[in-house]
Amino acid sequence: MFGKISLTILLIYYCLSIVSTNHYKADWTSIDKRPLPEWFDEAKIGIFIHWGVFSVPSFGTEWFWHSWSSHYKSYDEFMKKNYRPDFTYADFAKDFTTELFDPIEWASIFNKSGARYVVLTSKHHEGYTLWPSNYSFNWNAKDVGPNKDLVGELATAIRNVSLRFGLYHSLFEWYNPLYLRDKKNNFRTDDFVKSKIRPEMEELVNAYHPDVLWSDGEWEAPDTYWKSTDFLAWLYNESPVKDRVVVNDRWGKGTLCKHGGYFTCQDRYNPGVLQTRKWENAMTLDKQSWGFRREAILEDYLTIEELIYTLVKTISCGGNILINVGPTKYGKLVPIFEERLEQLGSWLQINGEAIYETKPWHRQNDSIASNVWYTQRGGDTVYAITLGYPKNGTIILGDVHYDQIESIQLLGTDKRVRISPIKATHNETVIEFPDLNPNDKPRYAFTFKIHYKQ
Ligand SMILES: *[C@@H]1O[C@H](CO)[C@@H](O)[C@H](O)[C@H]1NC(C)=O
Ligand SMILES: *[C@@H]1O[C@H](CO)[C@@H](O)[C@H](O)[C@H]1NC(C)=O
Ligand SMILES: *[C@@H]1O[C@H](CO)[C@@H](O)[C@H](O)[C@H]1NC(C)=O
Ligand SMILES: *[C@@H]1O[C@H](CO)[C@@H](O)[C@H](O)[C@H]1NC(C)=O
Ligand SMILES: *[C@@H]1O[C@H](CO)[C@@H](O)[C@H](O)[C@H]1NC(C)=O
Ligand SMILES: *[C@@H]1O[C@H](CO)[C@@H](O)[C@H](O)[C@H]1NC(C)=O
Repeated sequence: MFGKISLTILLIYYCLSIVSTNHYKADWTSIDKRPLPEWFDEAKIGIFIHWGVFSVPSFGTEWFWHSWSSHYKSYDEFMKKNYRPDFTYADFAKDFTTELFDPIEWASIFNKSGARYVVLTSKHHEGYTLWPSNYSFNWNAKDVGPNKDLVGELATAIRNVSLRFGLYHSLFEWYNPLYLRDKKNNFRTDDFVKSKIRPEMEELVNAYHPDVLWSDGEWEAPDTYWKSTDFLAWLYNESPVKDRVVVNDRWGKGTLCKHGGYFTCQDRYNPGVLQTRKWENAMTLDKQSWGFRREAILEDYLTIEELIYTLVKTISCGGNILINVGPTKYGKLVPIFEERLEQLGSWLQINGEAIYETKPWHRQNDSIASNVWYTQRGGDTVYAITLGYPKNGTIILGDVHYDQIESIQLLGTDKRVRISPIKATHNETVIEFPDLNPNDKPRYAFTFKIHYKQ
């Protein structure tokens, strides 16, 4: 009898402790304690998609509306030359036609790139929602433009190829009258958050179950105005994605690089040194814009070498990389994006084991050889990724001890790799690249897989 009662008490205690450890409070101390779901660090590579009404003018950047309203010269000229005088930004929406949008094709391109997650702009600063939101009357993809639920269609196709699906969401909306009124009141009123942002975000989470919620547009107002910790407590405790959702750090003025899930710190953040918190390098293939712009020329796009170098440096320092593409208003990815992603995928087919599910090593880049970055797996395997083929065919690694090497291999070939020590201490290792010919698979950047002696 006594045993049964104490067992019951133990069970109750156990259940309560589960509930309490899973219960996040609406303050940063509590919110920041949540462990990041493991899938995110393992995935390493995501695709970012900036798509919206700004894809219609596809000129300048996705900040088109703002730049035009601010009367930047090139925007005024562009509008004067090409549109009637009384044309408004809202008039662009009906030309957001997406008639060639094939979500299955996109999913196939993204999957082949080797990315493991996709993040779509569900709503950028212009306020237009890519899903039929009940909180964005006549300013959403169902009511004007595509007449489709773009978020829903892409979510289905992306998950069908076993990638994770995430959503970008802008808190502020440049010209929403409710927001502008709160702003005029120095954010002492919060009608915009109460009647628009909070219900809209819950709707988005409940309808599409995003694996990533990539918040943005936070910087003008404090997180207390956005009620961010309150929302995150709901997201972590009660929402349908509470166990797997990952969020970033853009939740109010001053939260960037300080609070939330993982850190994004600034656009194209790539510090080159190990970070204490999980972080993500959100970057673009078009160096000048996130949204598609028709005036871009070839040299505005990252080469495959530049993309791989950026990726390798990011992963070595513990980051994920979120690679942005801007689709056209008619729903296609232009072939330059497709090619870049295809090249990345072919590189990852050979070198992916040095990227996915790896951990940073005790050194991030080599102390002697420039442009050599490290990752590791399971304690006894180190990957030295060298960016480019050395002129004389050899490199000297200052951080790999010759005597500790059990075996070494160049990923993508069976050709023998010769190594030798350089000094009496044997603390450095000279690696001779095997002769490669143009048909060999190793390209762009070369990965030496080094087994250490146990
Ligand atoms: C909008 O509201 C209707 C009616 O309540 C509901 O059926 C629909 O699912 C809502 N839309 C979204 C995206 O949640
Ligand atoms: C799911 O993927 C298969 C190929 O693996 C494809 O044939 C099918 O059309 C896809 N369905 C959707 C809804 O994306
Ligand atoms: C996804 O990509 C992987 C790796 O390239 C490939 O093996 C797989 O067949 C692809 N799956 C689909 C459904 O396209
Ligand atoms: C290693 O990376 C850091 C940070 O990017 C850089 O300052 C340093 O020069 C690099 N070392 C070598 C040998 O290239
Ligand atoms: C090859 O070049 C590297 C620098 O690029 C140099 O450190 C090394 O000594 C050279 N090796 C030989 C054998 O010339
Ligand atoms: C060589 O490496 C060993 C072990 O890491 C270290 O104790 C020693 O100081 C190094 N020698 C030199 C000359 O750097």
